[in-house]
Amino acid sequence: MREPQSSRWMDGKQLAAQMRAALAARVAARPAGIRPPCLAVIQVGDVAASSVYVRNKRRACLEAGFQSIGVALESDATQVELETRVQALNDDPDVDGILVQLPLPPHLDGNRVLGMIDPAKDVDGFHPVNVGRLVLGQDGLAPCTPRGVMALLAHYGVDVAGRRAVVLGRSAIVGRPLAAMLLNADATVTVAHSRTAHLAQVAAEGEILVVAVGRPGFVTPGMVRPGAVVVDVGINRLPDGRIVGDVRLDVAHVASLMSPVPGGVGPMTIAALLENTWKSYATRMGVDA
Ligand code: GUN
Repeated sequence: MREPQSSRWMDGKQLAAQMRAALAARVAARPAGIRPPCLAVIQVGDVAASSVYVRNKRRACLEAGFQSIGVALESDATQVELETRVQALNDDPDVDGILVQLPLPPHLDGNRVLGMIDPAKDVDGFHPVNVGRLVLGQDGLAPCTPRGVMALLAHYGVDVAGRRAVVLGRSAIVGRPLAAMLLNADATVTVAHSRTAHLAQVAAEGEILVVAVGRPGFVTPGMVRPGAVVVDVGINRLPDGRIVGDVRLDVAHVASLMSPVPGGVGPMTIAALLENTWKSYATRMGVDA
């Protein structure tokens, strides 16, 4: 297919690299004798996609000068084993961030595990206390992918205040927290989902359209308001191995600004994770946030 010409692309790869370099500089400039930030990632089992994400997180940590702890549990690990590991990391003063890679195997109770992570170390922002803070517009640790989306919009000069933002998808990881962030930034927010009537019409109302439904090519040009800013959160692997988003490439003929997949939101998620870990560290160590 011909590469679309009309829209500008939002380069998340480049912006994420800038953010990570800025964090690396702050780590290097920390007061003498103070340890660097430390992120612990727990993975249960070895789902291939999760292993790729965990590896990328570890590499990003090390490049920024963070310490990285990996906890790998067998796919048949028990709830008690998992919770014991989380508790040990909660109690470890040298750990700033704890992330339990999702999805967990179905025999484990994810909500219970996420709810026992110390909210001050909850760098995913999934603990009910941090979700509540976000919804109330209070300071806390907020989920990484929506933070990445907001950072991308800000970097490209998209002022969301007073504008119609439509979020497609209502997941706890992306849609719901992103809706809260857009609202906190004074957008007029609609969350649409699989049960929304006239979804295409609702989507086309968005001056800003963020898509997080996990279905390749779900959004077509007819669902997009001409000149809209379109952010594609989807990461879908096709049978031929290609990674594509939730938005069809020809939407770029209609949008004014659009995020690519790969190279858009994905790298921003990891940069936001490092920023959350830095924030937790800075608070714990009394270093300048
Ligand atoms: N799996 C897919 N996205 C995420 C995420 O942002 N955090 C965690 N912990 N698991 C995920």
